Amino acid sequence: MSGQDYARLFEPGAIAGMTLANRYVVAPMARISADENGVPGADMRDYYAAFAGGGFGLIIAEGTYTDLASSQCFPTQPGIANQAQIDGWRRVTDAVHEAGGKILLQLMHTGALLTNNTFGAPPLAPSAVLPQGGKPPRFGGSGAYAVPEELSRDGIQVIIDSHGEAAANAISAGFDGAEVHNANGYLLDEFLTDYTNLRDDDFGGNLESRLRLPTEIMQAVKSAVGGGVAGVRLSQSKVNNFEHEWPGGADDARAIFAAEAKAGADYIHLATRRGGAEVFGVGRSLAGLARDVTGLPVIACGNLEDPDQALDILVRGDGDFAAVAKGAVGDPALPNKIAAGETPRPFAPEMLMPIATLESTNQWMAANEAG
Ligand SMILES: Cc1cc2nc3c(=O)[nH]c(=O)nc-3n(C[C@H](O)[C@H](O)[C@H](O)COP(=O)(O)O)c2cc1C
Repeated sequence: MSGQDYARLFEPGAIAGMTLANRYVVAPMARISADENGVPGADMRDYYAAFAGGGFGLIIAEGTYTDLASSQCFPTQPGIANQAQIDGWRRVTDAVHEAGGKILLQLMHTGALLTNNTFGAPPLAPSAVLPQGGKPPRFGGSGAYAVPEELSRDGIQVIIDSHGEAAANAISAGFDGAEVHNANGYLLDEFLTDYTNLRDDDFGGNLESRLRLPTEIMQAVKSAVGGGVAGVRLSQSKVNNFEHEWPGGADDARAIFAAEAKAGADYIHLATRRGGAEVFGVGRSLAGLARDVTGLPVIACGNLEDPDQALDILVRGDGDFAAVAKGAVGDPALPNKIAAGETPRPFAPEMLMPIATLESTNQWMAANEAG
């Protein structure tokens, strides 16, 4: 197909008050490349600006820790909890805006899936349940996870407040808004998930109670971003359990999406392996279900570097935006290339090896560009 056939991917879009040049979104990707104080530097500025220059209408910056205590996953993860981190991100957001893009920050609390916390905090979680799997080598981890401490009621309030402060800091840093990381097995997903949340207070038990912390955080973030955008990312699978599905199937999905919309989410973003895949035998993808239930703009993600797949999402009404992760690492100018009828450089796993830092990718590019 020619670039012309994909015109629908290049129609402007909107999320709340934020207008976007097209339907292409960079999905959040941890790049393990801030300094040891969680401050983004010039390499991160250039990395994010390249996506805007390459035609992505929206960038969702990587999972970023929200406090100087338990939220951090690994040492060179960026934070958004002090002035130096705000200033570092300001360089990134300025460069993205100068290149004509929009950028949101993903706010992340690592919960039980803590790899190596430099603040000396123990892993915190809804319940003291040993996580499945082991610490990912990609984030400098090795060996088994530790059994986390069960969060107290006061500890939960600290986490709600710190998400609000982090969202306000993101706005100070020039972001167009914030995304709550409620996916992939980290803290908020641990609250949502029956086998990691064994609490018998009002933050655990049935789905409505398990949704309490996620929705209170959504509310806190929404009120902290002011006129900015506040959204949420959700998934069934987890980094340490790819096969997990919501036990109540489509009913759970509908309840989760409705609760997030009620809590003020401006959009819903689904992390799946294949963005358009049908779920629960209901003839809709997860993104399509979210759209049907909430009427909100929905971002689909998973193998959408193929423009036919991305287009299909829009045509079938399964989503309003197509987020691309690995394909965007392969070619930061993927949207511009597709618009021009050119073939983007495909992603190669070696671009994120031995660990998924910007240095790994830059070295791969330097070695392969010459050839
Ligand atoms: C190196 C890397 C880091 C990632 N970090 C995050 C993250 O910080 N937050 C998140 O929600 N998802 C993260 N993901 C998941 C992606 O956003 C996306 O959901 C997944 O890669 C599937 O999309 P794709 O098929 O376009 O790669 C990461 C993926 C990769 C490859």
